Amino acid sequence: MLGLGTAALGRPQYINIRKDKTSHPTLEKFKQESFKVLEKAYQLGVRYFDTAPGYGLAEDLLLQWLQTKNDPSLQIATKWGYTYVANFDANAKVHEVKEHSIEKLKEQWQVSQAFLPHLKIYQIHSATLETGVLNNTKVLQQLAFLKKEHGLQIGITTTGSNQLEVLKKAVDVSVAGEQLFNSFQITYNILDQSLETMANTLIRQDKKVIIKEAVANGRMFRNNNYNHYSKLYHTLETLAAKHQVGLDAIALKFCQQNIKNSMVLSGASTIEQLQSNLQAAKITLSEEEINLLKSFKTSPNFYWQERKELAWN
Ligand SMILES: NC(=O)c1ccc[n+]([C@@H]2O[C@H](COP(=O)([O-])OP(=O)(O)OC[C@H]3O[C@@H](n4cnc5c(N)ncnc54)[C@H](OP(=O)(O)O)[C@@H]3O)[C@@H](O)[C@H]2O)c1
Repeated sequence: MLGLGTAALGRPQYINIRKDKTSHPTLEKFKQESFKVLEKAYQLGVRYFDTAPGYGLAEDLLLQWLQTKNDPSLQIATKWGYTYVANFDANAKVHEVKEHSIEKLKEQWQVSQAFLPHLKIYQIHSATLETGVLNNTKVLQQLAFLKKEHGLQIGITTTGSNQLEVLKKAVDVSVAGEQLFNSFQITYNILDQSLETMANTLIRQDKKVIIKEAVANGRMFRNNNYNHYSKLYHTLETLAAKHQVGLDAIALKFCQQNIKNSMVLSGASTIEQLQSNLQAAKITLSEEEINLLKSFKTSPNFYWQERKELAWN
């Protein structure tokens, strides 16, 4: 089963390659639609939800929705480290501000702790070497405290061409002689397969691996601005027709089959996308199909340069 990421459910503008840039629903309408996506996901069996304070109204929405449920099997993962600043303005120049300080951790925990007891994973949002967060003793000690106090798993999420470097450093971080991090949320998809070289190490150490951006922020879907992927589009469309699912289900299944025991996140922004994503559960890709898809990998530098150029729509 997939988990559901809420980045596109909390902010009307989000990083993607959306062609229709004109449809901006009112905030209230947007909120109602996002609520329906959460509810549909639950009805279809999703029990793992990923959110963050940086996702606009996503935490708030998820909290409100959780109150309509009485189900101990619901698991929430959230993060700290980004503040949403766009104020739902379609023309905002800055959408989020990063701050990996002890003050930000304490401030955002005050809100996020409302997810307890469903809160299972608490993550540093986009840990990087530059912010020094993996060397910040006060932050690491506070996370170790929360881990013990609330029985949480402590994680990082990674973004960028040096994801593996950050992962390797994070695995070795210890507080009072104990490894701090037990969960790693990483970008992995047909275009950026760099995680594969480290996935087994993480799994052997009993770490939880969560896959994000499985459809490469929409780059898996045929688009005339990305003609260099036309062979990939053709392959995905052929496999989708063969398995009688959408090509998003092929892309998600690729991730699930290659990174064993991982939790793959759907980034669906609508019920239609969600339903299509969940079709991944119905199929199994053959070894030959997996190998064919593996041949479309790009270099992390190319992948992340292209990702930087995507717009907030
Ligand atoms: N640093 C971090 O911690 C971090 C970063 C990124 C993501 N995440 C987490 O991972 C989750 C998933 O990542 P993501 O949403 O960024 O990337 P993704 O899953 O690769 O891309 C999702 C986007 O692809 C587009 N899309 C078009 N057709 C789709 C279809 N059939 N199914 C699904 N998507 C379709 C949607 O854009 P349109 O709305 O334009 O249709 C949607 O917003 C997020 O919700 C978040 O929880 C975490």
